[in-house]
Amino acid sequence: MNFLLEFRIYHVYKYNWTIQYNESFFGGFMETNSKQLPKIVKATDAEALADLALNCFINYANRAIEKQGLFRVAISGGSTPVRFYERLSNAAHSKIQWEKVHIFWVDERCVPPSSEASNFGLATHAFLLDIPIPGENVHRVTGEAENYADAVADYEQVIRDVFKIPKGRIPAFDLIVLGMGTDGHIGSILPNTYVQFDTDDLVSAVYRMNGDYNRITLTVPVMKEAQRILILVSGKNKAKIVREVFGTEPDPIKYPVHALWPVQHKIRWLIDEPAAGML
Ligand code: 6PG
Repeated sequence: MNFLLEFRIYHVYKYNWTIQYNESFFGGFMETNSKQLPKIVKATDAEALADLALNCFINYANRAIEKQGLFRVAISGGSTPVRFYERLSNAAHSKIQWEKVHIFWVDERCVPPSSEASNFGLATHAFLLDIPIPGENVHRVTGEAENYADAVADYEQVIRDVFKIPKGRIPAFDLIVLGMGTDGHIGSILPNTYVQFDTDDLVSAVYRMNGDYNRITLTVPVMKEAQRILILVSGKNKAKIVREVFGTEPDPIKYPVHALWPVQHKIRWLIDEPAAGML
């Protein structure tokens, strides 16, 4: 098999950007074509990564608002985006027309918003309370619903209403912000579980059998349809999975992030040095 050795790596040292092309440090495991080359932006540390994420967010928001008068973004939970969210509460709010922003969640645990495990709760404390966004522009998943099917149907309807699309059509979020788990999961699309990759459903419940919270997630077709995707990866504990996902042939069942490989051109990877340590 003919493997390609070419990747684009943007090394970022704080605000000092050096752009390097054609690096071959992955050992050339992955077969791809030029349209699918991962665009990786390497940050020195978690703080620099948060700065980068903030810059991307402001940039994409302003462009979308200029073009179409609104910016529709879906955000993730987890620990990685917290620093970025905190920055949104300070520096950015004067630079973003928040009344034109609609915030959704990529996924949510089936818990009430007051729970420490709630992604909505996390974003609320990290930045939502500090920005002048109208309440009706904040579209959370009702993780506390007793009947998950209701929560799924309600969330799907909210998305269809905001995007003004009928059943059967997939919305194109202006931006989807993802993290990546140490097992390669994105949103709540978890490895070795039953997830439909090919579905008209926008939202799906994910049942956990291991005592972890059940979850509600955007589906893979929705993720793939986004205009832009940011994947934030930080910390030494991610070094192995980063190496694995870039160093093996696409297998979305084992590594759900590989489900996005066909739309690699839409993704900007923001990876800090500890997470990129094994590349
Ligand atoms: C969540 C996210 C999940 C997360 C990854 C990475 O709510 O936990 O949906 O997909 O982005 O697990 O999490 P960390 O940022 O904590 O590593």
